[in-house]
Amino acid sequence: MPAMPFSKISASLNVLLAVMGLLAVAALTTPKIAGDVRFALEMLLAGIWAIYGLQLIGTLIIRQATRDRMPAIAIDVLAVAVPLAAFLFAGHRDQSLYCAIWLLKPLRESTFFRLMARVISNERRNLAGVTSVFGIILFCASLAAYLIERDIQPDRFGSMPQAMWWAVTTLSTTGYGDEIPQSFAGRVLGGLVMMCGIGIFALWAGILATGFYEEVRRQDFVRNWQLVAAVPLFQKLEPAALVEVVRSLRPRVVPAGAVICRKGDRGDQMYFIVEGSVIVQTPSPIELGSGSFFGEMALISGAPRSATVSAATEVSLLSLYSVDFQMLSSRSPEIAEIIRKTARERRGATPEG
Ligand code: CMP
Repeated sequence: MPAMPFSKISASLNVLLAVMGLLAVAALTTPKIAGDVRFALEMLLAGIWAIYGLQLIGTLIIRQATRDRMPAIAIDVLAVAVPLAAFLFAGHRDQSLYCAIWLLKPLRESTFFRLMARVISNERRNLAGVTSVFGIILFCASLAAYLIERDIQPDRFGSMPQAMWWAVTTLSTTGYGDEIPQSFAGRVLGGLVMMCGIGIFALWAGILATGFYEEVRRQDFVRNWQLVAAVPLFQKLEPAALVEVVRSLRPRVVPAGAVICRKGDRGDQMYFIVEGSVIVQTPSPIELGSGSFFGEMALISGAPRSATVSAATEVSLLSLYSVDFQMLSSRSPEIAEIIRKTARERRGATPEG
């Protein structure tokens, strides 16, 4: 069955519609907007709702409800059902506000939010640890502020919850200034709490940044591993050496027709073809396909590129820089020898000039 056009609204169109819808929702809260302009904005919301409705029908009818697609389907259902329920049951004044549910639409295809969820899940223990330190410092600071300031400013620090508000704004270094310690001891406490706050936020940021870095590296590693497995030459490697090679190879996809390396240029990397093919522009052009490699001659000899190589089809490559080639040579002299031997044979076959 052909896919229904609206089931395939692209991610960027989803975002654009959601942004337009949310701006209209915000504009409609302005009392000054009335008459034709208000009507036009309401029609815009109705139009977006109708498109989302078609998208939902497409998603439900055409696509299978696999487990992976459940979040997207749930978002599509909410995007249609919540404004509809508001239209039927909410008061006229608030109806358009419920379209704010479209805030979820950009999350539908987003890989970033999935990545963030994984990072938070991986780092949950560390994040919980820092959060508990935050809680402990918050409580101690409120207790101390209450004890120090309660007699001086009973209206501001007369209870622990009031002192807690001061502690939160100070610990987060926001400092609204509605509650200010008056005593010397209170101000010293304020300074200490601010410094603790900076430390805690730095720790949170550090944990999240490391978590993101690790997760992105892990994903790259898995993807590279699959690509490296497609190159027969690397099947000769021991697992430990394979791990090093996987880390040092950089994936790249080149569109059909693009030049990958040009004759006469300096070359500090060689390429392994995972998928697709390239044309080596020697006097009688040579096609190299998946599993082959090229660019090794300049890498090994330090001489300029002997020929221009361009992509015959869209080609998926893994590139290896000269420093990593040295590592590969020491880890697997056998593979290095195959590459050197091929370079010698090709040099013999390629006329100079
Ligand atoms: P390099 O000289 O670094 O850059 C161009 C590449 O084209 C070269 O390395 C080889 O990998 C490849 N090449 C050159 N001549 C031939 C050939 N006769 N057969 C296959 N590949 C070649």
